[in-house]
Amino acid sequence: MRMVDIIAKKQAGHKLNKAEIEFVIEGFTADKIPDYQMSALAMAIYFQGMTEEEASYLTMAMAESGDQIDLSAIEGVKVDKHSTGGVGDTTTLVLAPLVASCGVPVAKMSGRGLGHTGGTVDKFEAIEGFRYELPIDEFIDLVNRHKVAVVGQSGNLTPADKKLYALRDVTSTVQSIPLIASSIMSKKIAAGADAIVLDVKVGEGAFMKTVEEAEKLAHAMVKIGNQVGRKTLAVISNMNEPLGYAIGNALEVKEAILTLQGKGPEDLTQLCFVLGSQMLMAAGKVNTIEEGKAMLQQQIDNGEALETFRQFVSHQGGNAAIVDDVDLLPQAAYQIELPALEDGVVSHWVANKVGEAAMVLGAGRETKEDTIDPAVGLVLHKKIGDAVKKDDALLTIYSNREDVEDVKQRLYDALTIAQAANPEPLIYNVITE
Ligand code: URA
Ligand code: CA
Repeated sequence: MRMVDIIAKKQAGHKLNKAEIEFVIEGFTADKIPDYQMSALAMAIYFQGMTEEEASYLTMAMAESGDQIDLSAIEGVKVDKHSTGGVGDTTTLVLAPLVASCGVPVAKMSGRGLGHTGGTVDKFEAIEGFRYELPIDEFIDLVNRHKVAVVGQSGNLTPADKKLYALRDVTSTVQSIPLIASSIMSKKIAAGADAIVLDVKVGEGAFMKTVEEAEKLAHAMVKIGNQVGRKTLAVISNMNEPLGYAIGNALEVKEAILTLQGKGPEDLTQLCFVLGSQMLMAAGKVNTIEEGKAMLQQQIDNGEALETFRQFVSHQGGNAAIVDDVDLLPQAAYQIELPALEDGVVSHWVANKVGEAAMVLGAGRETKEDTIDPAVGLVLHKKIGDAVKKDDALLTIYSNREDVEDVKQRLYDALTIAQAANPEPLIYNVITE
């Protein structure tokens, strides 16, 4: 087989077979296929697309290009959840204990955050003592005994995807549905998921700018999942403003605790109920979203969800006393309000710009080497559709530095106050097959 023939075949709009796709991914991972040829193939795929079958072969070839986590020692269907990138997306902190409290194992492998999106392990790390660098057998043991554990990404997972993504980034071939879908799915499969629930975000600051694009991506991923024997469901959700009120690590832990107590923000709660119901469906625990929602509500009402969170934090070495006293979480030295400059209605809160403002405060990383300040972040008081008067507090900045003029400027740039706002749905579509 020759790479140049494979490039020509795709360029002409033909379908690649399994052997050809495996040849490409194995050769590229082993540095036998040079970047220039791989770039040419990525561009051909960008223009010609891929069938469901081709995307499935690509997904599995990338999943098998490095280490694969074997979770078969965990009893039950292991459901993983993935978001395409949110700001203030506190859902995993709520869903892990909430779904586990229903008896479904949650073996969550999570990454650290970069840029405007926070990482789940960074959020849990805001809890004093919390350990996420667990050996894989300890992680499996925790899930078997207590139904839930979180571990940081380690090992050499999907090196082919890592290399290809870096290449796509500099060859303008990121925005290709089959390439994005196989990139995401390969990572979930290598991490050991039996079933996958996807939260595909739509918005100005999100990967997918329109509902149509997001639906295409969601359908592509659901089809790949089903082709390779992993039940996959998806939600298309709005990321035109941050989710919930809190953005920042300790602040989001507090928001998650409130949500597990049934006192969380409405949008965050609603999204957790839909994603959580899909996780229960994927695990075969319930048959419909409605049944799932009722089960989750019951676990919040009877206190089991919060109790599972408390136990989970304690099993991972964290100070579980934060559950009863959130003031034990890291606290910022300064709380500074951002006043509205005029009367009106909040019509835009561009989520990625708000996320970048939180990052600049120290809640996130600009480069992989940056350290995070768990105490800092933002708490919104006004969301899209809320009326404001001049000088009302739009949000509170939690900071460990006194001068936050740069952050304020970024936040004003992210915000539009108009005469009226167009309310948008939180959830555009729920894809269950
Ligand atoms: N996120 C991924 O993991 N891969 C892509 O290709 C795009 C977004
Ligand atoms: Ca939030």
